[in-house]
Amino acid sequence: MQFNLIAGAACLAIALPALAADVTYRADVAPMMKKYCAECHAAPDAPSMAEFKLDEAKYKKAEVGPRTDTYEDLVILIAYPSTGAFMRRLDDGTSPYSGGKRGNMYYALGDTDAERAANLAVLKAWVGEGGWNLNRMAARGDVPALTKEQLDKLKLKY
Ligand code: HEC
Repeated sequence: MQFNLIAGAACLAIALPALAADVTYRADVAPMMKKYCAECHAAPDAPSMAEFKLDEAKYKKAEVGPRTDTYEDLVILIAYPSTGAFMRRLDDGTSPYSGGKRGNMYYALGDTDAERAANLAVLKAWVGEGGWNLNRMAARGDVPALTKEQLDKLKLKY
């Protein structure tokens, strides 16, 4: 029994970092954004985040969100200035400060629970272990500001 536990733990320890280390924007995330999000989040119809902020009402009416079709556009939604927006919208309701509620873009990650869960796992691995946080740069309500330690966890491999 003890042997099995140790062997199991060793396998996990090997499997998880391997996944995290292998996930890249080019190989994994860009194709995922294209498949699941481009309909509403890609050029030429979708605006940059700065453009989106200039006239949110217009874009929401047209049912387009800010671009998620380049690496740089995603970093704005993950790290700064829209810190955590990507995570808040795509969380499955299990992260601290999610209040048990899924983000409103989580549904777009697939047609089945299994597909959505698998895609979320890839995105979490890409963001980095410990980097998937719903906090903003500044505290808001009961949610504390993102810490430097949390920010340092971001990997976001090209
Ligand atoms: C059917 C259209 C549609 C699809 C598909 C869709 N979104 Fe969205 N998304 C929107 C719209 C419209 C908004 C702006 C309204 C809102 O804030 O909910 C938005 C907002 C967002 C925001 C918040 C931006 C902000 O203001 O901070 C993020 C992040 C996001 N989407 C990510 C995604 C990702 C990633 C996918 C793919 C897994 C996706 N969305 C799929 C339409 C869509």
